[in-house]
Amino acid sequence: MSTAPLELSLTRPDDWHLHLRDGAAMQSVLPYTARQFGRAIVMPNLRPPITTAAQAAAYRERILAALPEGSDFQPLMTLYLTDNTPVDEIKRAKEAGAVALKLYPAGATTNSDAGVTDIRKTYKTLEAMQREGLLLLVHGEVTDPEIDVFDREAVFIDRVMQPLRRDMPELKVVFEHITTQEAAAYVASADAYTAATLTPQHLLYNRNAIFMGGLRPHYYCLPVLKREQHRLALLAAATSGSTKFFLGTDSAPHASVMKENSVCGAGCFTALSALELYAEAFESVGALDKLEAFASFNGPAFYGLTRNSGRVTLRKQDWTLPESVAFGDAQLKPLRGGEALGWQLLP
Ligand code: NCD
Ligand code: ZN
Repeated sequence: MSTAPLELSLTRPDDWHLHLRDGAAMQSVLPYTARQFGRAIVMPNLRPPITTAAQAAAYRERILAALPEGSDFQPLMTLYLTDNTPVDEIKRAKEAGAVALKLYPAGATTNSDAGVTDIRKTYKTLEAMQREGLLLLVHGEVTDPEIDVFDREAVFIDRVMQPLRRDMPELKVVFEHITTQEAAAYVASADAYTAATLTPQHLLYNRNAIFMGGLRPHYYCLPVLKREQHRLALLAAATSGSTKFFLGTDSAPHASVMKENSVCGAGCFTALSALELYAEAFESVGALDKLEAFASFNGPAFYGLTRNSGRVTLRKQDWTLPESVAFGDAQLKPLRGGEALGWQLLP
């Protein structure tokens, strides 16, 4: 006797935190996201970063031009906030259709050298964003070398988030890719102007994954994976039914030669199998019924956008993720590449 495979139908989801890169590299990875998601928030940490409305508009055109024939995927553009982002740029950003600015503390992660050295230097600009309804997306880690790498997110809450929320109460802030129980608790108890994204790797893995039988560069991202107690807190937040938590893969492709190097770039590439990985995480705690709101409803609600109209279907069936895919002239290894996944997005 055979039973029909389990299928899960979802309103077409969005990815609220994505790195697409540019040029041939972007051309290689964009189709994976366009297949899984209706829209994505595109991170501005190119080299040089996207700091102006004009650059964001031009980047969007390059993305649209690189989309596969017939795709209606929509990139949602962001600007990279610097100490010197002019107040006037905010109006131009809004007119150009950008939806948010990204705060990288200077030196916190990949391509963040141009980041903010002291958030108070940006207050006039943040006030303009609050007025214009642009969101602030935050990489929430302090860069103080005295602070242990594993504590940088928790310290960021005290040193930056709390004062920021006090001084800019009606600015919508997304605490991006949160990784700790402290951040999950902070966001859960914050008011309606604060939300958070969660990556698949932080829901599925703790920091042991980086050291399984040897150093595993493809599990290294920033903020770095944390202890199991944190993973469990994040999974509880994602599946709690709270509308403050939503999907943001932080898929961050780096060529294999850069990952498997004496200095390994931070970032996990998950665009190829993002929904499958989230389904695995939600299923592990019997919460598949919470996946649609997390993936497809909470993000647009917080950003003030409508939900997508289409649907996607996940089927519970084993398949093997490719070990490596093309990345411009180079190769790119997906997280879990070469391994079996238990869910598959239907074409
Ligand atoms: C991102 C990247 O590679 O651009 N890396 C990462 O580990 N997440 C940068 C970032 O979002 O921190
Ligand atoms: Zn990121």
